[in-house]
Amino acid sequence: MDLIQIKGGNFLEGEISISGSKNASLPMIIASLLTRDKVKIRNIPNLSDVSTLLKLIKSLGSEFELKNEDNSSYKLIVQTKEIKNNIASYDLVRKMRASFWVLAPLILRYGEAKVSLPGGCAIGIRPINFYLSILEKMGASIKIKDGYVQASIKSNLQPINYKLDFPSVGVTHFFLMISSLVEGESIIRNAAMEPEIISLASMLNKMGAKITGHGTDKIVINGCSKLKGADTKIPPDRIEAGTFALAVATTGGKLKLKSINIKEIEILKDVLKNTDVEIKSSENFIEIIKKNRVIHPTDIETKPYPGFPTDLQAQFMALMAYSNGKSKIKETIFENRFMHVQELVRLGAKIKLNGDTAIVNGVKKLYGAPLMATDLRASASLIIGALRAEGTSTIRRVYHLDRGFDKIEQKLSSCGAIIERKRDNNE
Ligand code: EPZ
Repeated sequence: MDLIQIKGGNFLEGEISISGSKNASLPMIIASLLTRDKVKIRNIPNLSDVSTLLKLIKSLGSEFELKNEDNSSYKLIVQTKEIKNNIASYDLVRKMRASFWVLAPLILRYGEAKVSLPGGCAIGIRPINFYLSILEKMGASIKIKDGYVQASIKSNLQPINYKLDFPSVGVTHFFLMISSLVEGESIIRNAAMEPEIISLASMLNKMGAKITGHGTDKIVINGCSKLKGADTKIPPDRIEAGTFALAVATTGGKLKLKSINIKEIEILKDVLKNTDVEIKSSENFIEIIKKNRVIHPTDIETKPYPGFPTDLQAQFMALMAYSNGKSKIKETIFENRFMHVQELVRLGAKIKLNGDTAIVNGVKKLYGAPLMATDLRASASLIIGALRAEGTSTIRRVYHLDRGFDKIEQKLSSCGAIIERKRDNNE
């Protein structure tokens, strides 16, 4: 296994091109299984979550080719003429929650499916009750046995009008995929409004579905009996962009982030301004300028889009660890997404937990320490903390990081960070 070593203290200066979005890639790759035709997906990032998913879809019958588009991204040409296997095994699904969504194409194209209960980042209980209730309402029979969801249909699934109790991203993706191939009008209310939903809906529309309202909380899907191939592109990763923005806000310096969609990080832009960071931006780039290292304490509360993303909460906490006062960070999406706190404390951060809220008392200096990554975004927060800490930090279990950040060490070191990946001989 690898570890990452960081010698903190340098300012970050330079330009970074943002890669394709992990959380858009995963549902879009799965959606390719809804058709027998060839699907082309450009700007695929180089991430272990993508490789895990490709292994899974191969096991189900997909054939694909990954072509290097330039040095930084891939073009996926995928075709699933036939679903040859309707079982998504524990080994492949446990690594990543999004794998569970293959249940949609499997049941639609095979009539029955067996998909392992999902794994993924350990950030809360993460139930699947909404998925099951949608399938049941559409007419599928469901059983949970031996750690697998077993679903089957006797006749065609029925379109439904469904109101989510919470605007779940995954469930909205799942609903769009499944109802695109259910003839008639399905409606999802209190739907997630995340940009990744818009990307998936646009792809499904190219494939022949008729989806309207994506990007709002009510999406209407006029499903059809057959979808066709499409040529589509993964949008930039707003969480990767936000992570680098928070990194330079913490270390100081000047970073230009290119190939972004500024509208998708509007909330972060506002929050960063409150922390006393200077920002210049246009539609597809943002420049973050932090001349001094004085950070104003700022409270945030994570919320579904367009609110502050839970996927940037850990990274924001690393910034607040260095603020010149007290801030409150409230996590409202996942009940256990504070695993990074104990590691930031190892750097010397002063953070207390009170239920769903972390109270951060900023300090002037943190000091390098041995650290352990606990989940994907937690890993990024440790990197940010270590980039400014005095001395050297080592971050172990960076396989979490590789799930969702494409070449993060190369990108940071090209902007002045002293960061190196090494073999971990102690694991
Ligand atoms: C997606 O996870 C993202 N994953 C997560 O990204 C992200 O943190 C999350 O949305 C919230 O934005 C991908 O897109 C692959 P949810 P998802 O369903 O879909 C509850 C990252 O670091 N819920 O929107 O699994 C659930 O427990 C990550 O890239 C139910 O109660 O999240 C949670 O409290 C990790 N029942 C809330 O909804 C259900 O059946 C929101 O979760 C489903 C969800």
